[in-house]
Amino acid sequence: MTGTTDDYLHEAEIYDVLWADLNSFDLPFLLSMAAEFGGPLLEIGCGTGRVLLPCMEHVDRAVGVDRSPSMLEQGRANLSASGVPEERVRLVEADLRSFDLGERFNLVLAGGQTMFHLETDDDWLAALATIRDHLQPGGRFVAGVPVFQEADFRDYHKKQLFVDEIRHPRTGLRIALWDYSTFDFEKQSITRRRVSEVLDEQGLVIERRHDIRKNIYRFPPEMRKLLEQAGFRIEAEYGDYDRGPYTEESEDFVWVATVEGRKEDQPC
Ligand SMILES: C[S@@+](CC[C@H](N)C(=O)[O-])C[C@H]1O[C@@H](n2cnc3c(N)ncnc32)[C@H](O)[C@@H]1O
Repeated sequence: MTGTTDDYLHEAEIYDVLWADLNSFDLPFLLSMAAEFGGPLLEIGCGTGRVLLPCMEHVDRAVGVDRSPSMLEQGRANLSASGVPEERVRLVEADLRSFDLGERFNLVLAGGQTMFHLETDDDWLAALATIRDHLQPGGRFVAGVPVFQEADFRDYHKKQLFVDEIRHPRTGLRIALWDYSTFDFEKQSITRRRVSEVLDEQGLVIERRHDIRKNIYRFPPEMRKLLEQAGFRIEAEYGDYDRGPYTEESEDFVWVATVEGRKEDQPC
């Protein structure tokens, strides 16, 4: 697991602007899951509530868990601005490998590569056990992650690349983002060093921020095995967010899983 510091500190306030494209990418599918299965809903790694808050159209109650105080702070601001009554949503600071909310959910979602923040098999198994313990009988765990192709990485490896220039949603200042990433193909890790430059209207840098974040990407056979090991059964898997079949060429791996034969779910 990457360090204990808040690795979204400089991204939280701009996350929703930076990742706005995701809202036409994975969100319709995740919303359809909330509509189909209903709540109560738990999102692990809920961040700013990008997924969780729109889901409130389909569920009565939801809990979001995240370890980043800055993402949760932005999530709370988004909740206030959303008009969703605050008593319907609980945002909890916790590590997704070990939390106990004292209740069970009909649907657990993990959107936006949250699962790739888990480093080791033990991290995955701890997180999956925690999710399993929070599912109601017959509940679903739905998540999606990209399928990384090594060839794509070669273009990004050890190069300083311009990512985007956006306007800070609160200050209105321009922010230019640059990434320098390294890939360890054996360990399946991506270490991204990001420089965020705050610019004045002439484009001169008035402040520079540095962040480092590590992700471990997994391939579908590994994820299937970990899910099975943790007692999940994959009910459906897709290769995109339009419910297309998963194939060797798919760019995403999306699953709907249930808990397999849990003892406490059997009738007495
Ligand atoms: C890429 S963001 C996704 C946010 C949101 N789900 C979305 O789709 O917009 C990943 C989130 O997972 C959280 N996260 C990563 N590792 C975590 C852990 N071990 N426990 C709790 N949250 C974690 C991060 O703080 C971050 O907010």
